[in-house]
Amino acid sequence: MCGIVGYIGARDATEVVVSGLQRLEYRGYDSAGIAILNHDDFQVRRSVGKLSNLQQRLQEQPTHGQQGIGHTRWATHGGVTEANAHPHRSDSGEIVVIQNGIFENYLDQKRRLIEQGVAFHSQTDTEVIAHLIERETKAAGDFLAGFRRAMQQLQGGNAVVAMHRRQPGLILAARLDNAGGVVVGLGDGENFVASDIPAILDYTQQVLFLEDGELAIITADGVQVERLTGEPVAKAPQRISWDPVAAAKGGYKHFMQKEIFEQTRSITDTLHDRVDLENAQVMLDDLTLTDQQLRDIDKIYIVACGTAWHAALVAKFLIESLARVRVEVDYGSEFRYRDPILDRGTLMIAITQSGETVDTLVPMELARKAGVPCISLVNAIGSQAARLSDGGVIYLNAGPEIAVASTKVFTCMLIAAALLALKLGALHGRLDRNAMREHLQALLALPNKLGTLLQETAIYEKLAERYRHTSDMLFLGRGINYPIALEGALKLKEISYIHAEGYPAGEMKHGPIALIDEQMPVVCIAVKDGVYDKMLSNVEQVKTRGGEVIAIATEGDTTLRDAADFVIEVPQTLPLFAPVLTVVPLQLLSYYCALRRGADVDQPRNLAKSVTVE
Ligand code: F6R
Repeated sequence: MCGIVGYIGARDATEVVVSGLQRLEYRGYDSAGIAILNHDDFQVRRSVGKLSNLQQRLQEQPTHGQQGIGHTRWATHGGVTEANAHPHRSDSGEIVVIQNGIFENYLDQKRRLIEQGVAFHSQTDTEVIAHLIERETKAAGDFLAGFRRAMQQLQGGNAVVAMHRRQPGLILAARLDNAGGVVVGLGDGENFVASDIPAILDYTQQVLFLEDGELAIITADGVQVERLTGEPVAKAPQRISWDPVAAAKGGYKHFMQKEIFEQTRSITDTLHDRVDLENAQVMLDDLTLTDQQLRDIDKIYIVACGTAWHAALVAKFLIESLARVRVEVDYGSEFRYRDPILDRGTLMIAITQSGETVDTLVPMELARKAGVPCISLVNAIGSQAARLSDGGVIYLNAGPEIAVASTKVFTCMLIAAALLALKLGALHGRLDRNAMREHLQALLALPNKLGTLLQETAIYEKLAERYRHTSDMLFLGRGINYPIALEGALKLKEISYIHAEGYPAGEMKHGPIALIDEQMPVVCIAVKDGVYDKMLSNVEQVKTRGGEVIAIATEGDTTLRDAADFVIEVPQTLPLFAPVLTVVPLQLLSYYCALRRGADVDQPRNLAKSVTVE
C-alpha cells in the first residue's frame, strides 16, 4: 500500500527519495510524488500511475536539494488523480505533508478549516493534515509545537511526515494509533525516514522504529524521539541484517517467479536452527511464553487475511491433529465484528507476511486488551505484529517478498505452523519421541522434495497455452488440501484475472457441479491420503460431465494417470505436510497463466502488498 520515504543530509535528496520509492513499489500504488526543499521553497512533482511517470516528470522539470520527502499512494479518499497524489501543501504552501493510513475524523476537521477560509485543492484526508499543521503552527508560533498539536487531533491509524519551508534542516515524523510502520534510518551526517525498511537499506542498516504516539525530530545531525505530549523517549538503534541485493530479481523475469523458485531455500531458513533431531524437539527461541503457559492453552484463535488465512486453515489441521488443541480460524476483518470469547486458556495466533495488515492487527489488540496472549508467525522483522506479540514470535525468515502475490512466504507459514504444532503436541503429551522424530524427519526432507517440483516447468507452459482464453477454473481439495484449493484459486485469479473458485470437493455435488462442462477445467488435489478415494470419485464426476481434470497426484499414481487429463506429480510425504508440496504446482500454474495472458505478474491491478487500512 502507500509508501513513505524522507531524507535529510548531504546527498541529492531527489535521488535518495526516488530510489527509496522504487524499493517500495512492491507495496502497490497508483500515484507518486516528491517534495524537495530547494532554495527555501518546495519543489513538488507528482504523477499518476507508475513511478516511471514521476521519473519522466523529474527529467523534464528537475529539482535537487538536501532534504525531501516522497510517497507512493494507493487511493483511499479521492480518486487516482495528480491533485490527490502526495505530498500535499498547506494553504500558504509553507508546509508539505505525506501520510499513510486513514484520518478518520478528517471530514469534521475539513469542515472547520473551510469555515475558517481554507481552500482545498484535493479530495484527500492528507491535505486536511497539511492545513491543520499550518493552523496549529501559526497558533503555537512554532512548527514542532504546531505539528504536535495537529497530530493530537487526528483519529485513526496514521503515519505522517512533514517539512516546513521556513524551517530548513528539519523533518518531522509521527506514528499514531496503530498506523503502518515508521522506521527512522540513522546515517553519518544524514538521516532517513520510511514506512518500510527496504526503502532505506541501500544507505543504512541502523534503524529506530516509532511506536504509537511517538514523534521523531529528524535533522542531518541527529534524531530525537519523543511522545506526542513532548516527553523524550530513549531508543536504542537496531541493526537490520537484510542484504539489499537479496531484494533484486536475481536473473528471474519476475519477482514472483524468483520467489517461487526460492522456496527450497526459504523453507530451509524457516526450519534452520529450530529442529533438534537428536533430542526429538523443536526450538522456538523467539517465543516468550513458557512451556507451562503453552501447556495451559486449551483454545486457539488464528487470525489472518488472504493467503495467510489459507495458511491458518492448514495450521488448524496441524495443531488439532498433532496437539489436540481446539482451533478456530478467523478472517482478521471479521473477528472484531463478532463477539468472540476471549477467556483464560485462550491463545491468539496471528499469521501475516507483512506484519502490518490492519485487519490482522486489530484482533491482536482486542486479545491483548482481554488478557489473551498473542503470538505471531510473521515475516517482517520488527513489524507491528511482531511488536504486538506479547507471547513472542516465530519469524518466517523468508527474506523480503516483493511480488504482491504471496508464494514463498506461504510455504514458510506452513512450516512455521508445523513447528508450532509439533511443539504444542509434545507439551500436551500427544507426541512421543518416536512420533516427534518421524515428523521432524519428514519436515527436514521437505526442502529437497520441494526442489524436485521446480525442475520441470514445461507442463505449466503447456497448460497456460491451453487455458489462455479460459474464463473460469475450479479448484477442488479435501481435508488439509482444501485450503490449498482455495489458495490455488486465489493465486490464479489475482495474477491472471481468470475467475477461479476453490471448493472442498465434497461440496461439489451441493452446487458447483452445475458449472461443469467442456469449458470448465477443474484442478483436483488428489494425493495419497485418507481422502484419496473420495477425490478419485470427484475426478470421475467431473469427467462424466465433460470437464477437463488437472490432477495433483502423488508420485507414481497410475490410477490418476488414466483418470485425469493432465497429471502433475508431487513427492510423497506425511499427509499433514503435503500442502507444502501440493501448493507449488498451483503457484506455477498461476504464474505461467498470467505470463501467457500478458498480465503484470508482480503488481496485479488493484492489489497492494501490504494492506494497512481497514
Ligand atoms: C495474496 C496475498 C494477500 C495477503 C493478505 C495478508 O497473494 O498476498 O492475500 O496474504 O493481504 O497479508 P499479510 O500476510 O501481509 O498479512
